[in-house]
Amino acid sequence: MSMIDLDLTINNQKVHRKKIDGSKWLNDFLREDLGLTGTKFCCGISVCRVCTVAWRRVPDSHWEAIRSCSTTIEYLNGTEIKSVEGLPEGNELHPLQKSFLDNFAFQCGYSAPGFLMGAYCLLDKLSRSPVPKADIDAAIEDAVGEHICRCTGYVRYRRAIKQVVLATPGLTV
Ligand code: FES
Ligand code: FES
Repeated sequence: MSMIDLDLTINNQKVHRKKIDGSKWLNDFLREDLGLTGTKFCCGISVCRVCTVAWRRVPDSHWEAIRSCSTTIEYLNGTEIKSVEGLPEGNELHPLQKSFLDNFAFQCGYSAPGFLMGAYCLLDKLSRSPVPKADIDAAIEDAVGEHICRCTGYVRYRRAIKQVVLATPGLTV
């Protein structure tokens, strides 16, 4: 166990903790210490991706999808995290959340936060490097193709994400 002073930004809020166990998984820190239970836990071995959150090293850098079950808070110290709770803007759901609802993309919903955050990172990536419309399906597969949904909502998840990509200016060329 290595004790650290933790300094994170999570959903635009500064989070400081003195002398905390740096080997704690981000998933445990979010769910148990901060009560942010929107991020789920399942396999715990970096396979299913239900625990996915967005991470960036410095402000304005690109968002990367990481698995919170397998990433320690020590590794993330000094950086920024966005979890599903950080997606809405004010009282407005994020377009991805609206699209998931409009497309009945999820059933039990357990996999939805992970898909949302994987898709969120994809939108950020496309805003920096737009792709031809013909390549959207491949880009979506690259972003969320390894996410597991036990309710098998794969087709609707992909459809919902694609609609947002097509409807958002600047993501395609
Ligand atoms: S809980 Fe399955 S990848 Fe993290
Ligand atoms: S909606 Fe139930 S696991 Fe995906």
